[in-house]
Amino acid sequence: MKIISDLDSFLLERAKLQEKEKIAFIPTMGNLHNGHISLIRDAKKIAGKIIVSIFINPMQFSGNEDYETYPRTKESDENILKEEGVDFLFSPSSEIIYSNTIDDHTKLEIPSLGNLLCGASRPKHFSGVATIVCKLFNIVRPDVAFFGKKDFQQLVIIKKMVEDLAIPVEIRATETVREEDGLAISSRNQYLTNNQRIIAPILYKQLSILASKLRHDFQNLAPLKNEFIDLLNNKGFFIEYIELVNTKNLATVSKRVDNENYIIVTAGLLGKTRLIDNIEIK
Ligand code: PAJ
Repeated sequence: MKIISDLDSFLLERAKLQEKEKIAFIPTMGNLHNGHISLIRDAKKIAGKIIVSIFINPMQFSGNEDYETYPRTKESDENILKEEGVDFLFSPSSEIIYSNTIDDHTKLEIPSLGNLLCGASRPKHFSGVATIVCKLFNIVRPDVAFFGKKDFQQLVIIKKMVEDLAIPVEIRATETVREEDGLAISSRNQYLTNNQRIIAPILYKQLSILASKLRHDFQNLAPLKNEFIDLLNNKGFFIEYIELVNTKNLATVSKRVDNENYIIVTAGLLGKTRLIDNIEIK
């Protein structure tokens, strides 16, 4: 695997890649776990060259968030990527990406979608995500890029950005990878105390119960949502939202429409750790 941190060197290597080989790209913030590995393995099924980026993107964190403390595990990440047979790791510094001027850097806006759900409590987050992903797409110029369904709103926003800006890349989605007890794997899970880690899987358990009820009946959504919130808040969570939305545009739904797919999405704080999860209702 070639590890490249410098932009010009990366562009040189990229120029050498043969156009006939399909290039898959997996953008990450590092601290790689089985969720990331699953994206890489999905990519390997369909592409000849695999490029992963590791960049903890300051633009998508707000001042009170965990940019400074976000786990940085360079050595073990590089070992995982080598073992998975990744061809290139692009791991630029913030200076290379932003020349230390985030305020002056061009930014993408995703009206409405960027302000819903997680965007309501993280106002600049999805603008930062879209900007860095767009910039990385321009640097890497992949044929196909992989994103996890765990961050479903991010996936929908990236798909919209690609469509709106006519970016020539195919977006593919990988299923959420979970711990044995159901907790969606996330780099942030390691912030949980032992006690919180025992409580954390209740989020997915209750979401699964709610999803199976909704598969039968959308009519009783409001009381079911309240039940979910009360139960989790009593266990120590602070539920930020629980919504049933359309998978295409994240519009809140209260009635079932034929040929539409839905997803139940939630976010909650357990102590200071923000957990998100979702289940598709097909
Ligand atoms: P990061 O949190 O490192 O995630 C990188 C990719 O891995 C994302 O597409 C995310 O959805 C996926 N992923 C994370 N946990 C997963 C799990 N348990 N199962 C399946 N996929 C999972 O998401 C980001 O980084 C950043 O916002 C980024 C897109 C890199 C832009 O900075």
